[in-house]
Parts: sequence; C-alpha cells; structure tokens
Amino acid sequence: MERLDRFLAEQLKNISRKGAKELVRRGEVTVNGVKAASAEQKIDPAGDVIAVSGRAVKYRRFLYIMLNKPAGVVCATRDGLSQTVLELLPEELRRRGLFPAGRLDRDTVGFVLITDDGELAHRVLSPKSHVPKKYFVRLRDPVTSDIPEKFSAGIIIDGPETCLPAELEILSGRECLLTLHEGKYHQVKRMFAALGNEVVYLKRTEIAGIPLDAALDEGEARELTENEVERLKSGL
Ligand code: URA
Repeated sequence: MERLDRFLAEQLKNISRKGAKELVRRGEVTVNGVKAASAEQKIDPAGDVIAVSGRAVKYRRFLYIMLNKPAGVVCATRDGLSQTVLELLPEELRRRGLFPAGRLDRDTVGFVLITDDGELAHRVLSPKSHVPKKYFVRLRDPVTSDIPEKFSAGIIIDGPETCLPAELEILSGRECLLTLHEGKYHQVKRMFAALGNEVVYLKRTEIAGIPLDAALDEGEARELTENEVERLKSGL
C-alpha cells in the first residue's frame, strides 16, 4: 500500500508531491471511481484504479528504456565532464533511480538499456546469465573466412583471459555481426586486437534478442513495449 500523493508524483511526470496534493484537493482524483478523500489515503498501486480528471493513471512499477546512444556520451549516472546517457532522456522518461544496465564505451553507439529495476539489471549484468548481446563491427582490415571458427572456439585476449564462445557473421570484407554471451571490459575491441585487427566503428544492435528500434535516431529513446519487457525477462 502506498500514499496516494506519493503514487501520483511517482507515476505522473511533471507532478510533484505538492502538485498531487493540489489535484486531490480540487477533487480531480478518483480511486476505483470514488473521489479521493485525502492525499494521504493509502492505495494499492497494482490493484486500485487511480484516475485524474477521468483518465486512468497507467501504473508502471519500473521503467525499461531503450536508448540509441551516440558517440561521446558516457554510460554513467553522473559524470563531471561528459554528457551521460541519463541526460539524453526526454522529460517524460526521467525518473529517480534510473541507471544504465551495462556500459558501452564512450565511442561505441547503439542499444543501451536504462531501468530502475535493480533486480533485472543485476540479471542482465551477471556473468552467470550469459545474456546475448549483438554488435555490428567495422574493422580496419578485412576479416578472413577462418575468423568465425576462432570466435566460436573462444578467443584468448590479453590478460590472459579466454572468452566464451561467440558467434561471428561476416557481412562484407570489413564488416561483421558479433554476438557475445558475456561482457568483459572493452571486450569486442580486445578480441579483434588479439587477432591483429582493430575496431574502427562499434554499434550494439541487440540485447537478449531484442533489436534496437531502427526508428530511433542516435540520442533518441523510448520505453520498451510490454512484449519486449516480457521477452527480456524470459530470456534471462
Ligand atoms: N566491447 C567493446 O570493446 N566496447 C563496447 O563498448 C562494448 C563491447
């Protein structure tokens, strides 16, 4: 159970706790069709139907956001120098507690999952879950046809660390798609460096089988659909 004003302030963007109290005072808020008596009234966020001016408030316990990260932006909640992925979010997708579930390098572009669901983020990031992440990679030198086999056998990168088997699909001489099942620091770049090549452009195109929405320009974000959230959860 939760206080009505707290619920409204959490679920309605641009409404503060004070604003929520005012809406209740003006008689604009109903709980299961009955005018709310007080802002302190306790409601069940998952069971009660709360409406403002006759429109039901959609309850979202957590937010799941797909962002198409541009280069030059960092995957952090705060950074003194660079712009962060959270600062790119439009007003209506901002909420306390959001953070990027996984990091892309500053120069890497593409799919970043942003959420306030700590448990889901933990499962996405856990080395045990092996959530597949797909990357489009452009290289300095052409890849040879024996390379996919090397990736499926497990590349040894500096350290030395052996990577889990990964799937490499060659698209053209210098371009390929790479699916990883783990997330070591600078992993894609280090895998190709271990083979004497160099990544010149890197874009994450999929997380857990969910493709980055082609309609999102770099810097744009949208909420995952219910279907995508289901797929994300079931794929973990
Ligand atoms: N691998 C990298 O090298 N960089 C990224 O940003 C993601 C994966």
